[in-house]
Amino acid sequence: MSAIQHQNFSTSISSSTSTFLGKTEFKNIKTLNVLIPSKISGVVKCVASPSAEKTTAYKTKVSRNENMAKLQAGYLFPEIARRKAAHMSKFPDARVISLGIGDTTEPIPEVITSAMSKRSYALSTVDGYSGYGAEQGEKKLRASIASTYYANLGIEEDDIFVSDGAKSDISRLQVLFGSNVTISVQDPSYPAYVDSSVILGQTGQFQKDVEKFGNIEYMRCTPENGFFPDLSTVRRTDIIFFCSPNNPTGCAASRDQLTKLVQFAKENGSIIVYDSAYAMYVSDDSPRSIFEIPGAKEVALEVSSFSKYAGFTGVRLGWTAVPKELLYSNGFPVAKDFNRIVCTCFNGASNIAQAGGLACVSPEGIKAMQNVVGFYKENTDIIVDTFNSLGFKVYGGKNAPYVWVHFPGQSSWDVFGEILEKTHVVTTPGSGFGPGGECFIRVSAFGNRENVLEACKRFKQLYK
Ligand SMILES: Cc1ncc(COP(=O)(O)O)c(C=O)c1O
Repeated sequence: MSAIQHQNFSTSISSSTSTFLGKTEFKNIKTLNVLIPSKISGVVKCVASPSAEKTTAYKTKVSRNENMAKLQAGYLFPEIARRKAAHMSKFPDARVISLGIGDTTEPIPEVITSAMSKRSYALSTVDGYSGYGAEQGEKKLRASIASTYYANLGIEEDDIFVSDGAKSDISRLQVLFGSNVTISVQDPSYPAYVDSSVILGQTGQFQKDVEKFGNIEYMRCTPENGFFPDLSTVRRTDIIFFCSPNNPTGCAASRDQLTKLVQFAKENGSIIVYDSAYAMYVSDDSPRSIFEIPGAKEVALEVSSFSKYAGFTGVRLGWTAVPKELLYSNGFPVAKDFNRIVCTCFNGASNIAQAGGLACVSPEGIKAMQNVVGFYKENTDIIVDTFNSLGFKVYGGKNAPYVWVHFPGQSSWDVFGEILEKTHVVTTPGSGFGPGGECFIRVSAFGNRENVLEACKRFKQLYK
């Protein structure tokens, strides 16, 4: 795999939404001499932001979904894209480096793309053509995912539902549980859990004073508690969204901590939606799946994805594992209802993407994915070392492609603005992931090596 690839400087963003936006004031601090002539022309497309509001004479009689209106506080990644675009027009010659959104940059290994191109060409032949496939995914892929990621954990082929990615599955799971459930999330957390909950009507209004939605339990994760919530203070909810290794903090929960989480769910009769999208980045003995914890199959399901392993953020392929042992209060299997949701809301993942998925979990594919993950982990080490050498408190990074840097007493939007203004590097303000992210920024290790090194050089100049 080539270590250095050209960074995609397109600023087209269609990523996660968030409800936590703060004001930005760019402080006037020393400017770095990092302007480099650029061949970049960025076109900003914030697909999640509303199109320019037009005044039309005609209005339908349809009321706006009031839950959508609750999301009014804003969108994290489109807001970052907007600020990046404004920055680029202010500094047209700057070489802007994005370590902001969690999009991959390394090419997909050829063992995987060749399988996809083979399947793609076969679609032009009578024998090789296939139309709609099974909504749950191709049998062989389901079996391979089960044996690759859940060997000896009791998860079987028919527990695996192949999807077009973890984010879509998070929303499908919300549809599955409906509007009447209560949820808890880690604070900070990947914004899709909260926003999909708001859209489904599970929450109250956004409370500006605390920057939280009513009726969501925010489980604070801080350096003081090792980024694992103090469960003795957590209110019972029906559903617990839990992501490990975590986006954005980059921290993975230990076996002991996850055992406590499973016990907590069991005592409360809750269901854990465990997001393991970064499991392949674990390099210590932290569990890679919640099903490594005894008893988890009765209280948890797991969403995961090839996005961050194989560079499938654009290809789109993920899965959800729903064990047969997971039952509702009336004894009905959750998997049966999820099957119904998948059949109703989804017509199955792309057959070309599934051919790629099958190649991913072949022995050569796994090796190739480990190389990709290893490359990003080297980037992570470079970023961690940089901030450590500058005297910052740095978290995460070890088991995830995200570095969580502490700026005590400072607004994370201010820090984001300062870094962008003075180094032309895009990061992500921690408060975009919930109030618990205030005073932090997330630096993503997804980037080509040249850019990561250059960004770190600029950080050193700024903070020396
Ligand atoms: C924690 C987490 N879950 C899910 C996703 C979405 O993954 P996918 O690309 O499979 O939709 C992301 C993407 O950044 C993520 O960080």
